[in-house]
Amino acid sequence: MNSQDKREKILVTSALPYANGPIHLGHLAGAYLPADIYVRYNRLKGNDILFICGSDEHGVPITITADKEKIKPKDVIDRFHRINKDSFEKFGMSFDIYSRTSLPLHHETAGEFFLSFHRNGLLSEKKSMQFYDESAKMFLPDRYVEGTCPNCGNENARSDECENCGALYEPAELKNPVSRISGKTPVLKETSHWFFPLGKYQQELEEYIAGMNEKFGWKDNVLQYCRGWFKDGLQDRAVTRDLDWGVRVPLDNAAGKVLYVWFEAVLGYISATKELSLKRGNGEMWRDYWQDADTKYVAFIGKDNVVFHCIVFPAMLMAWNGFNKQQYILPQNVPANEFLNFEGKKFSKSRNWGIDVIDFLNKFPADPLRYTLAANLPEMRDTDFYWKEFQARNNNELADILGNFINRTFTFVFKHFEGKVPQLHELEETDNVMLKLLETAPERIGALYDRFKIKDAVLESMNIARAANKYFNDSEPWKTVKSEREKCSTTLNICIQTIYTLAELFSPVIPFTTERLFKMLNSAPALWYGAGKHSLLEGHVLNKAEILFPKIEDAVIEKEVNSLALPAENAEVPKDELVTIDDFSKIRLKVAEVTEASAVPKSEKLLKLKIHLDGEERQIISGIAKSYTPEEMVGKKVLIVANLKPAKIFGHESHGMLLAIGTGNDKLVLVEINKDVPNGAIAK
Ligand code: MF3
Ligand code: ZN
Repeated sequence: MNSQDKREKILVTSALPYANGPIHLGHLAGAYLPADIYVRYNRLKGNDILFICGSDEHGVPITITADKEKIKPKDVIDRFHRINKDSFEKFGMSFDIYSRTSLPLHHETAGEFFLSFHRNGLLSEKKSMQFYDESAKMFLPDRYVEGTCPNCGNENARSDECENCGALYEPAELKNPVSRISGKTPVLKETSHWFFPLGKYQQELEEYIAGMNEKFGWKDNVLQYCRGWFKDGLQDRAVTRDLDWGVRVPLDNAAGKVLYVWFEAVLGYISATKELSLKRGNGEMWRDYWQDADTKYVAFIGKDNVVFHCIVFPAMLMAWNGFNKQQYILPQNVPANEFLNFEGKKFSKSRNWGIDVIDFLNKFPADPLRYTLAANLPEMRDTDFYWKEFQARNNNELADILGNFINRTFTFVFKHFEGKVPQLHELEETDNVMLKLLETAPERIGALYDRFKIKDAVLESMNIARAANKYFNDSEPWKTVKSEREKCSTTLNICIQTIYTLAELFSPVIPFTTERLFKMLNSAPALWYGAGKHSLLEGHVLNKAEILFPKIEDAVIEKEVNSLALPAENAEVPKDELVTIDDFSKIRLKVAEVTEASAVPKSEKLLKLKIHLDGEERQIISGIAKSYTPEEMVGKKVLIVANLKPAKIFGHESHGMLLAIGTGNDKLVLVEINKDVPNGAIAK
């Protein structure tokens, strides 16, 4: 059976962005534009669809921003919720609701899940050692502590997790931990938290993903990530944190504790749908989607969110379903995208690299951006936004292919056919080929959308416009208008029908423009599958053409390219904090000689060194293996931090740290000392 006949019920969510900073182009290409195109396409198919999003308003990134700016978390989220909601609107995101997780309705919903799990004995309460800032008198979860990863040497590792190598470890193993509140070394202090037993659901999760993949074809990149997690084995996860800001743990003995942000944020999709229900005057409506097995749920995200959407969230829903009568549906597909980079490098706020949506849309209209991003979505691998490509997509494709075809057709029809749809006469082979192409396009392109091949669908849509220009050229209406008026009339009739089909095909992608185009056609969109059939009657009156895609001048683009990476007025330049001579003298820098060196098994970055220091021999594990071989190291005189607390790295004792200079790309240059200087000499 053709999917044309059945009206589907579809729930679509896009990852809830942190209300902690402005949305940039990378976000759009990851989880937002593809979702919006998919939703608009499905609305045109006549499907019953809800499109849900909102701000993720808890979590440590938000409290850190608030601390840094000496304002309240509430001020941070209010500001960025407004900015991001506004950016999305200008970009044409057609959410049914853009909610926020700070709403009481969300706190209730998340609390209900926690309580259900707690009441049913699913959560275990465990004591563990966490970092604690004695001057700020608070625990330091997640990003509140930075240090060096004990596994790979990444210096921006978090207290119990490294984003660089994916390692999970106990806070005690983190090297050189620093509190982001006071800049001081935190201590370890015992606290207790509730843990969700993810491992208990591993088998059910594996079966769920395998089953969905078999029926609906999940993306390879997504399956890869999941397999990685399953292979390592799912562990218990702490679902609470010691923080003020967040959803309170709804228990009596839990003062000062909130739910872990990921544990509640994913439930934000549900609470946002509840809010929409209330707004639409039917408080129970959300159940028709979340709790009806006939609903197809698709979750759009970026690749960094895969574990939470394919493993954590489904496990939570499974757990709920195990304890409660009302059964939630699970995502039927999670078409996660890879990342979009900006002119060859990662977007970075602190290095002022990239552009925020709101700034972009103050300079350029949304549709050329939507088209450029859509034509280059990071569906299989990371891709880049380039200003030059943006200009080329606008000028050479939107303007010269699509715009040109529309323009020449309208001009011709107004000049020779009084601005009315010309009559169709006898069809020739080329006419039939063009009509056939139109008739089959919606089905063919729709099938790509259905499989989340959004980029291919968009490029195929442009191919129809290419074929249309060729048809116009081959039919030579400027000649036939004099000699064969009927043939000319037929050609232009088909060209107008083609514009109608193109308007429909491009509606999901460039909705602002196609709205104007339908006005020019003095018509409205059809249901998707009808858009390729003859729709505009002979004699139908058209409206005057407008320029739909103004060209973008070289000078405009050059200006953008030239301003890349100029420090923005308010870019964060990390300030060197002043220290006193007393601070400095706390650090004992001593000269030492390397006497032995060997690789640390299973580590790419670490070397195990024996060093001599005024009569003392020590072992140091140093993260320099990518820059020096063991052979090169033996005999070197180096400078070390001699009074660094001994630590275990990769299971090896390490007492001291070699000074080296980072030069980018993981390369380090050791601080080397003249061979005549005696071991143990102090640098001051
Ligand atoms: N705020 C997260 C991010 O920006 C995404 C949260 S998605 C949710 O990466 F499902 F948890 F809400
Ligand atoms: Zn690491």
